[in-house]
Amino acid sequence: MHAQAKPVLLNTPPTKHPKLLAWVAQVAALTKPDCIYWCDGSDSEYARLCRELVNAGTFRKLNPALRPDSYLAWSDPTDVARVEDRTFICSETKQDAGPTNNWTAPAEMRATLNGLFDGSMRGRTMYVVPFSMGPLGSHIAHIGIEISDSAYVAVNMKLMTRMGQKVLDVLGEDGEFVPCLHSVGAPLAQGQKDVAWPSNKEHKYIVHFPETREIWSYGSGYGGNALLGKKCFALRIASVMGKQQGWLAEHMLILGVKTPEGNKHYVTAAFPSACGKTNFAMMIPPTPFKEAGWEVTTVGDDIAWIKPGADGKMYAINPEAGFFGVAPGTSYETNPNCMESLKANVIFTNVALTPEGDVWWEGMTNTPPAHLTDWQGKSWTPASGRPAAHANARFTVAATSCPSLDSQWDNPNGVPISAMIFGGRRSTTVPLVIEANNWNEGVYMAATLGSETTAAIVGQVGVVRRDPFAMLAFCGYNMSDYFSHWLSVGASVAHAPTLYCVNWFRKGDDGKFIWPGFGDNMRVLNWIIGRIEGKASANDTPLGAIPRYTDLDWTGLSFQTPQFEAITAISQSHWKQELALHNELLTKLSHNLPTALRARYEALTTAL
Ligand code: GTP
Ligand code: SPV
Ligand code: MN
Repeated sequence: MHAQAKPVLLNTPPTKHPKLLAWVAQVAALTKPDCIYWCDGSDSEYARLCRELVNAGTFRKLNPALRPDSYLAWSDPTDVARVEDRTFICSETKQDAGPTNNWTAPAEMRATLNGLFDGSMRGRTMYVVPFSMGPLGSHIAHIGIEISDSAYVAVNMKLMTRMGQKVLDVLGEDGEFVPCLHSVGAPLAQGQKDVAWPSNKEHKYIVHFPETREIWSYGSGYGGNALLGKKCFALRIASVMGKQQGWLAEHMLILGVKTPEGNKHYVTAAFPSACGKTNFAMMIPPTPFKEAGWEVTTVGDDIAWIKPGADGKMYAINPEAGFFGVAPGTSYETNPNCMESLKANVIFTNVALTPEGDVWWEGMTNTPPAHLTDWQGKSWTPASGRPAAHANARFTVAATSCPSLDSQWDNPNGVPISAMIFGGRRSTTVPLVIEANNWNEGVYMAATLGSETTAAIVGQVGVVRRDPFAMLAFCGYNMSDYFSHWLSVGASVAHAPTLYCVNWFRKGDDGKFIWPGFGDNMRVLNWIIGRIEGKASANDTPLGAIPRYTDLDWTGLSFQTPQFEAITAISQSHWKQELALHNELLTKLSHNLPTALRARYEALTTAL
């Protein structure tokens, strides 16, 4: 072995921040990259890194006539989604991580990680990526620095966050930042040829140290495993910061609704992964609603940071600046605003390639193309009997590409929230929409949320699991303490939003979704806004207020009472089973469980 040469500095560190410089030097000494490069976030840098990714075989440039300035990446087939069983919250005590998180003692995990990261960037360039989660300088925003040996990560971070020199300018010489260390875990020996999608098949670790606010991610280059600003920082670490500082970090979209009278409301919605946040955030109201003057605008599609304001309302920002959305199922029928966002300047991962050099995925068009190259680079025809795109294939695109982007999306003070919605994918049991009678009952509803698992997570698909607040995989501390935090934030504000539960996914005997969903979800949103404005009526049930058939606006849709019954009925036998599952969850979380939640369970059991 040669003695390790010092890494080549590809540019001068554009900061004097002593702590940052020391951390970068320390990581370089551990990971031993060939080169170090500080990202400035410029368009020319993005273009150059994309060219390099094309030369490396990671990217394929799509046909500029069909999909200008866009690229396609195919990942290693073993690296296609978040790995929840390899995700760890390494708090000082196991109890602080709680029963829903994987935990290892910090000292033990540090020893493991130091071993894995030792020399892990050999033969590669180490990118230093400064980013802001939230508008630069906003009092709700926070800064992170991701060190990664993946150029794919660097270019995705450019689209997903406010990234580069402007962030270092805000950071100054003593600003706080969350250190986010990422390695694909595939060092190159001298002369060794790289693969198109480097990753580590043996070891994957997505690790959070909440007390020191550090993230260490090893072995995966995909999505939330690697773009550390997203789930690792903006949800897991930020949820801990929020608990300490009196705010909320949530797996929520944020949308704006303008009524025909010109009233503007903002609404958040928490749905688990691949359960419709992007679609709901970009929804186009059905024609009669549009013509009447209803308008829906997009602030964010995945994450919300929410802070009580001085006026007693809750204010939300979207900490991200782009969308990393599910491609399959996205079409001009289901989500036209999304399709318009994807016309140019997009990075596609694991979708199929057309012979013309464009992309395709299941559900994009009714008739699949006669011939494609699938996400694994294999020849594909509709007769192949396998999907052409991976079920968790995604697009990365800047928020500013979205035609429905809200005028206030970048407002550093956030937008005031009138309602918060929680929802899951449930083929039975859960009605179309329920309004909680008060904050605490809404917290119970969100805490006991269940959903069928999707391809966004490595593992079995379609299994109902409890996913409290759609945060099961994203809460960086003890879930019971998180429930307490929600109760106390609600109690601390004078104008707490109204809380709702929705379910677009009930199925009929034929196995098909009964509710048309997508744009027609506007009918439910319309009722919610009506409730907030004191105009819409409902039926009081033990679960909360539920609209009667006549309480929804059916203009332009043929949807009859029996169908409505089928998606709103509360079945005694189903709810008996459901409450047993609630009880299982509450029992699992019994340590520190707020008494209000147990009390609500008892009351529901009696009432139902
Ligand atoms: P993450 O980015 O993984 O957090 O997920 P997301 O909640 O943003 O998921 P997304 O909106 O991309 O939805 C993924 C899947 O849900 C797609 O296959 C959609 O077709 C489907 N979907 C979205 N909205 C609806 C709806 O109203 N009804 C039905 N039946 N399916 C929907
Ligand atoms: C999710 O799984 O909830 C996502 C995609 O939003 S990822 O960023 O990969 O976590
Ligand atoms: Mn998500």
